[in-house]
Amino acid sequence: MIDFPQTLPASRIPDPMAAPALRWGVLGTGWIAEQFIASTRAHTRQIFAAVGSRSLDKAQDFASRWEIETAHGSYTSLVNDPSLDVIYVASPHNLHFEHVMLALGAGKHVLVEKPMAMSQSQGRQMAELAQRKGLFLAEALWTYFLPKFDVIDQLLAAGTLGEIKSVQTDYGEYFTRDHRIFNPALAGGPLMDLGTYPLSLITRLMGAPATLVGQKQMDESGVHGQLSLMMADHAGNQATLSTTLYGFTPTNAVIVGTKATLRFGSEFNLPGPFTLASADGASVLTWDEPRGRHFEGLFYEAAEVARCIAAGQGETPRRPLEASLVMLGAMDRVIGTLGLDYLAPVEEVMS
Ligand SMILES: NC(=O)c1ccc[n+]([C@@H]2O[C@H](COP(=O)([O-])OP(=O)(O)OC[C@H]3O[C@@H](n4cnc5c(N)ncnc54)[C@H](OP(=O)(O)O)[C@@H]3O)[C@@H](O)[C@H]2O)c1
Repeated sequence: MIDFPQTLPASRIPDPMAAPALRWGVLGTGWIAEQFIASTRAHTRQIFAAVGSRSLDKAQDFASRWEIETAHGSYTSLVNDPSLDVIYVASPHNLHFEHVMLALGAGKHVLVEKPMAMSQSQGRQMAELAQRKGLFLAEALWTYFLPKFDVIDQLLAAGTLGEIKSVQTDYGEYFTRDHRIFNPALAGGPLMDLGTYPLSLITRLMGAPATLVGQKQMDESGVHGQLSLMMADHAGNQATLSTTLYGFTPTNAVIVGTKATLRFGSEFNLPGPFTLASADGASVLTWDEPRGRHFEGLFYEAAEVARCIAAGQGETPRRPLEASLVMLGAMDRVIGTLGLDYLAPVEEVMS
């Protein structure tokens, strides 16, 4: 008889509306910046007080569309705005290092889009600067701020799944050819983009891979168009990952433990249901919530960041910097193993 709970634990995520209202500056005026503002405004009391763009016209246009008080015509001007508590870095990932170092250097707390950096070495320098300056830093891997992941974390902490033997993940989406993901100069290709979700899930569950093999297929644009990986931990437990730019895939994940199996009822990285079945399949528990997308989910990370900063914390337990660094280490490994050729990242350190 397999030890299996009677019920799922409740989510412990506090009411996002109760999070202290911080003044945010948004760095970059692209797609995710708009999703983040819309979701956070609808579900929290956070204040979007300023936006910074490489162009003043763009900043002013964005500020007027989103009713933001101040428009800055440079990122330097934004991060030096004394009225702001925290900067949300929403530039392309090959620029995160430069922009996060700029914001931390100006004494601002930072939430940075995923992946937080192009390498573990960059991530470490960012974490060290934040720590040295007593500032908050987190990677905006919003999946792990969702209520369903708090439930999953509790199941994992209680050992309900037993030893994790196998994790199977995928994430594919369709993109038009003008999207930055096809641009080699912006570190395009799925690994640093869609791939951060499955890779972060695998490293969260199994730690840094002990072994890793895989295959990539290059796209005519010069970025990799898709890749598949197989990884194992020190005990030989396995994980697989596939990610593609050529079409939508189920974007599902299955976590097989010796005591139970967790399956997602929709995209694992978005709000939605999951089931936990005992290993023999005899008992099943369901987490039932509506399927959602960015609008229904991004605000949880904003509220958590506000709570942590107000409480004087340097990071969040929902996405600890060490977890980001382990994922970046796995990415370094994928880049080396598959011979991915990103353009030279910015390594200059600012303090
Ligand atoms: N959490 C999520 O679900 C999610 C979803 C999508 C993307 N992301 C992440 O968010 C980041 C931005 O993605 P996005 O889809 O929002 O990109 P995007 O629409 O292309 O926007 C990026 C913004 O960065 C700024 N930027 C600064 N230097 C740039 C350069 N050299 N080339 C292009 N833009 C530059 C631009 O703002 P200005 O011109 O105003 O300076 C631009 O609007 C990426 O790291 C991505 O991985 C996260």
